[in-house]
Amino acid sequence: MTTPRDQRRVFGEVADAYDDVRPGYPAEVLDRIVAYAGGVPTSVAESGAGTGKGTALLRTLDTPLICVEPDPAMAGVLARRFAGDDLVSVVVSRFEDWTPPPGGVELLASAQAWHWVDRTVRTRLAAAALAPGGVFAAFGHDFGFADDELKTAMDAVYQRLAPEIADKPGLPANAQHPDSFHLSELHVSPLFTDVEQQLVVSVVPYETARYLTLLTTFSGHRMLPEQRRHRLHQALAELVDERGGVVEQKLTTALCLARRTGSDRA
Ligand SMILES: C[S@@+](CC[C@H](N)C(=O)[O-])C[C@H]1O[C@@H](n2cnc3c(N)ncnc32)[C@H](O)[C@@H]1O
Repeated sequence: MTTPRDQRRVFGEVADAYDDVRPGYPAEVLDRIVAYAGGVPTSVAESGAGTGKGTALLRTLDTPLICVEPDPAMAGVLARRFAGDDLVSVVVSRFEDWTPPPGGVELLASAQAWHWVDRTVRTRLAAAALAPGGVFAAFGHDFGFADDELKTAMDAVYQRLAPEIADKPGLPANAQHPDSFHLSELHVSPLFTDVEQQLVVSVVPYETARYLTLLTTFSGHRMLPEQRRHRLHQALAELVDERGGVVEQKLTTALCLARRTGSDRA
């Protein structure tokens, strides 16, 4: 009997490509976290660190940073990237199975990865990982398009060839739209206060070949049967080439912030 492929584990199949083409995060995201925290945190943990795209931003804090990442291939790229860096440690584990340091950390961050943590326990586990008053910061890109006409044409290709991901062309299946950080979980929890969301917009150009590689790193695309993924990517490549050979990816980076209260009631 074959086991169903786990969508949250498909990133490791393309770890190097992921590291090559996925966009990093604007410095402004970190500036906003530090402003919200009221200073530079002295201890940081990151859930779902992947190959280190968010880690690179967090590392600029010059603070000890524990990266929790369950996929061995992703963690391998991450560990190589920060080899010899005394401030960065890598733990190969799901966030759900990780034991936070006693007393908790001052900042728990997660880049494009919080939606993969079991939603029935993640708010409680985030609180358990934080010192009282500590800051939770989840952020992630919504991969939009600067050119509306290109987006409309791409929508039609998705409708024809991959309707199951047609509502989010170019997006991972569980992409975090600016309003879908499950802020309500934090709003209703007595473990968190001062819940807010901020948006940072940037535009990143991708030439056709690189854009196709980007698509292969999205879990929704990876889960498509190979032949259909191939047909979809071919059709999208033709479309992009007809329109100048560049996709301007409009990234709306949503940043969800919350502060750990002193309360231990879940
Ligand atoms: C879209 S990638 C984001 C990686 C990186 N943070 C970035 O911004 O590029 C999502 C990551 O979440 C990891 N992940 C999946 N399930 C997880 C879990 N239960 N706990 C922690 N990380 C998880 C995946 O292995 C993957 O590396």
